[in-house]
Amino acid sequence: MARRTAIGLDIGTSVVRAVELSFGRDGVTLDRFGQVVLPEGAVRDGEVVDPEAVTAAIKTLWTATRFGTKRVVLGVANQRVIVRQLDLPWMEQSELRKTLAFHVADFLPISVEDSVLDFYPLEEVTSDEGARQLRGLLVAAQRDTVLLNVQCAEKAGLRVESVDLTSFAVLRAMGRQTDLTVGTEALIDVGARVTNIVVHSAGVPRFVRILLMGGQDVTDAVSEQLGVPLDRAEGLKQNFAQWGSDDQMTMVSRTVATTAQDFVDEIRGSLDYYAASSPAQHVERIVISGGGSRLEGLAETLAAGTRLPVVLGDPFWPLKLGRTGLDAEQIEFIKPLAAVPVGLALGAI
Ligand SMILES: Nc1ncnc2c1ncn2[C@@H]1O[C@H](COP(=O)(O)OP(=O)(O)OP(=O)(O)O)[C@@H](O)[C@H]1O
Ligand SMILES: [Mg+2]
Repeated sequence: MARRTAIGLDIGTSVVRAVELSFGRDGVTLDRFGQVVLPEGAVRDGEVVDPEAVTAAIKTLWTATRFGTKRVVLGVANQRVIVRQLDLPWMEQSELRKTLAFHVADFLPISVEDSVLDFYPLEEVTSDEGARQLRGLLVAAQRDTVLLNVQCAEKAGLRVESVDLTSFAVLRAMGRQTDLTVGTEALIDVGARVTNIVVHSAGVPRFVRILLMGGQDVTDAVSEQLGVPLDRAEGLKQNFAQWGSDDQMTMVSRTVATTAQDFVDEIRGSLDYYAASSPAQHVERIVISGGGSRLEGLAETLAAGTRLPVVLGDPFWPLKLGRTGLDAEQIEFIKPLAAVPVGLALGAI
């Protein structure tokens, strides 16, 4: 029997990237990884604004990386996606699916007709009045932004099997790094403009937050402070640590430190919010991924600001490496970038 394969396609702010996995009796194998840089402004804050440019990039990606199928799982994460914990009257799954819109209409800032809804059940609880209730995470995404992502993929000749929240993809890819001594941890995927925070215990999500911030904020700050164009600022940001300590480098280093601190303050705000609402399951460590997590000094600033151990996530654990055409150094390089597409592909099964 042919092995089953699945592709996760992540339309990010700076790149489109995809991963193909195959599922066999002997486990899951990473078969392909590819990415294509998007022109500046094609995706803004996680939302497609230039569909032609995104479609073209996806086409290039499919030509350049020889994926085995055109069926994909797509991710979404932007400001118009809301994830919040909610208690509903207890009901069967089938009933829940039929009546979800009715039950959640009052909690949504957008109309039910304009949204795509999902409810991820977590546990059964008893209300103060003694009624049986279902506690879970409500995911509500604005229909238009989801459709735009789907259309870009379809215009590029792909078939979208399903759409998933990128936060859940991060959880699927990295919530399995079993360190049995850790009960609850926060996974933080830092992109260019979007940062996904997922607090989970043994793979069960407890809290999800999508922040509109990331590595691009640092580049913007360097560009502004030093009066240099964005591409130059990007280079300075990525390499200042290796380039000695003249006046310019000192200024870059200071700007990076200040922006990283602002970023960490935001993360801490979200984790404090979580801690206040779930005092019983406190976060014991932080696992980071995403291109933005590569920023020099970020992990240390995050550890100091939260007083938690910070480790680098490995979305390729425990995947087997297939014939990807990538050498060990390239695999190491793409590791932090692959959490979202790997998690999307894992969700196909
Ligand atoms: N070596 C590095 N040092 C610092 N920052 C880096 C480094 N490499 C990449 N980055 C930053 O990572 C960010 C891109 O990360 P990633 O590819 O995960 O984002 P994205 O998926 O395109 O965007 P988003 O998830 O925000 O929509 C950019 O801001 C880039 O500057
Ligand atoms: Mg991303």
